Amino acid sequence: MPEGKNRRWLLEKRPDGPVGPHNFRWTESEVPAPGEGQMLVRNLWLSFDPTQVLNMVAAPEEGGYPLGEAMGSLAASQVVESRLPHFRPGDLVYGFSHWEDYSVVDGKGYWDTATVPPGIAPHLAVGALGITGMVAYFGVVEVGRPGPGETFVVSAAAGGVGSIAAQVARLLGARVIGIAGGQEKCDWLRDEAHIDGAIDHRREDVAARLDALCPNGIDVFFDNVAGPVLDLALARLRPHGRVVLCGSTSRYRVTPRPPGPQNYSRLIMVNGRMEGLLARDYFDRFPEAISVLKGWLDAGKIRSKEDVVVGLEHAPEALMRLYAGANVGKQLLKVADAPPGTST
Ligand SMILES: NC(=O)c1ccc[n+]([C@@H]2O[C@H](COP(=O)([O-])OP(=O)(O)OC[C@H]3O[C@@H](n4cnc5c(N)ncnc54)[C@H](OP(=O)(O)O)[C@@H]3O)[C@@H](O)[C@H]2O)c1
Repeated sequence: MPEGKNRRWLLEKRPDGPVGPHNFRWTESEVPAPGEGQMLVRNLWLSFDPTQVLNMVAAPEEGGYPLGEAMGSLAASQVVESRLPHFRPGDLVYGFSHWEDYSVVDGKGYWDTATVPPGIAPHLAVGALGITGMVAYFGVVEVGRPGPGETFVVSAAAGGVGSIAAQVARLLGARVIGIAGGQEKCDWLRDEAHIDGAIDHRREDVAARLDALCPNGIDVFFDNVAGPVLDLALARLRPHGRVVLCGSTSRYRVTPRPPGPQNYSRLIMVNGRMEGLLARDYFDRFPEAISVLKGWLDAGKIRSKEDVVVGLEHAPEALMRLYAGANVGKQLLKVADAPPGTST
């Protein structure tokens, strides 16, 4: 059993407005011991996702995080002690964990705990080669299906999911336009992700820029945020256009929820299609996507952009960065160093 304290962020108060430090409480306690059917893991990397706020609001019986317990999170971790048959001390794993140094997990949940595949760095297992990359890959390849020369537009394009989706679509031969907030994000999209155009929604007229960059309309819109940008894309959908509903970040914290898209009738006029997806629908095909994405990463054909906050004490700030649009790339938090010899 490791010596020392277990530093933890507890979920103290459910949000009734913007999430802030007041929703959490810092505490230190003994490192827990796993019971039968459990294991103790040391968290290395925490993943941040806008939907965590939905789980903070929801009651446990609706799938929400319990009050007074360590805040939930996907994480890459190392097994310290295991009373589960498939995991041994030293294994690197990813799955559902908590904002704390050490967590006791049973390996079951919305995401079952899995071993990090050999040769993959733990931070990639909760980023480009984790749920983030999986939903981006399958959302493009299976739902949006952009063909060569088609126009593909993605919102929150410099975020975790958007940055991978944009590059996958480019490799499929699409003309890719990203919508993102801020110069730094747009520069990265053009210069590092090598997409065809970027629209800065903080300082540009998005409608006018879409008209300029997509003069013949949009074949595929990959949506991470919903709200007004979804309506702008729907209005420009080409015949047989597709809208991939991956996320709706603009709506997660707003109550009552604003009405849905105004321009959905465009789907009728163009024989269009809107289709949602969940990453876990494709769980059985994750190895295929990991293999393809890793090949592209290793060959330098795509880049994994990560926004790393260092130190467990900064976890609330890391979550708030998503809603401030401050993250460039996948928002991660490094809790502890990976063990020596681990792929990085
Ligand atoms: N379907 C699935 O299985 C699945 C799995 C994983 C994630 N998702 C969803 O995919 C989406 C992207 O997730 P991610 O982890 O990659 O997050 P992310 O896009 O890296 O981070 C959130 C970004 O959303 C934008 N944003 C924040 N607040 C907004 C608002 N009020 N209105 C409009 N835009 C806002 C900001 O980007 P800009 O300022 O640059 O626009 C911000 O940087 C989320 O909606 C997430 O829930 C779905």
